[in-house]
Amino acid sequence: MMLKLIFTTIISAISVLGMSGTATAAGGGDVTLLKKDWSFSGIFGHYDKASMQRGFQVYLEVCAGCHSIEYMSFRNLADLGYNEAEIKAIAAEYEVQDGPDEDGEMFMRPARPADRMPSPYRNDNEARANNNGALPPDLSLIAKARAHGPDYLYSLLVGYGDAPEGVDVPDGMYYNNAYSGNLIAMPQPIYGDDVEYSDGTSTNAEALSADVTHFLMWAAEPKLEVRKRIGVATVFFP
Ligand code: HEC
Repeated sequence: MMLKLIFTTIISAISVLGMSGTATAAGGGDVTLLKKDWSFSGIFGHYDKASMQRGFQVYLEVCAGCHSIEYMSFRNLADLGYNEAEIKAIAAEYEVQDGPDEDGEMFMRPARPADRMPSPYRNDNEARANNNGALPPDLSLIAKARAHGPDYLYSLLVGYGDAPEGVDVPDGMYYNNAYSGNLIAMPQPIYGDDVEYSDGTSTNAEALSADVTHFLMWAAEPKLEVRKRIGVATVFFP
């Protein structure tokens, strides 16, 4: 047990060293991974609630039209610093299906804190039909599901640009220098100033991308801080 915790800590420490730069992707073409100094990196890492709240706003206003985050319940937003009344108000903006009622009918009702965040599509077929055949993945665990999670997500969001000469970009595809193979079916979602922040912090493309990445990292690993505290305590006070 103890060995396992120490091991976890060492892994966290190693992952801080990370890797950045350019590598050749399996599908051909170069991928660029930008390395950012996240507050949650390192063995004493912690989440930044203000950044996560802003990131949640970016998710809602920019990403949620195409991507679900279905493992997240509204009440999980307490981790971001929202109080109960705020969470109720956020949930009430959504409708979820419930039922069956006495007549056996399903019905829609305003969401409550215990409900999961509803998906923008009824099923994968509808999602594909709306996205040129490509399926926007659920974002609940994406920050853990991809190598270099947060750095990769950030690099992907800021990685759009013109294709180099000679590279053909088919209709419905976009050039991205962080995506394996460089051609992605997701149109550039963030340009800068896509949302208005109430705390006056920057809304340039880099800031919005960093905030939404911070939020997605928390969504994928909400207990990260607890895990790190246990790891650190085990190493220093065995
Ligand atoms: C107009 C719809 C649309 C919007 C808006 C959108 N996406 Fe996507 N996204 C897609 C589609 C479609 C794919 C699948 C791309 C593919 O398979 O080539 C995708 C893929 C992704 C992936 C997976 C990349 C990989 O490595 O497989 C991530 C991460 C992602 N989007 C994050 C976001 C974030 C964060 C936002 C908001 C800032 C966002 N998306 C906004 C449609 C969208």
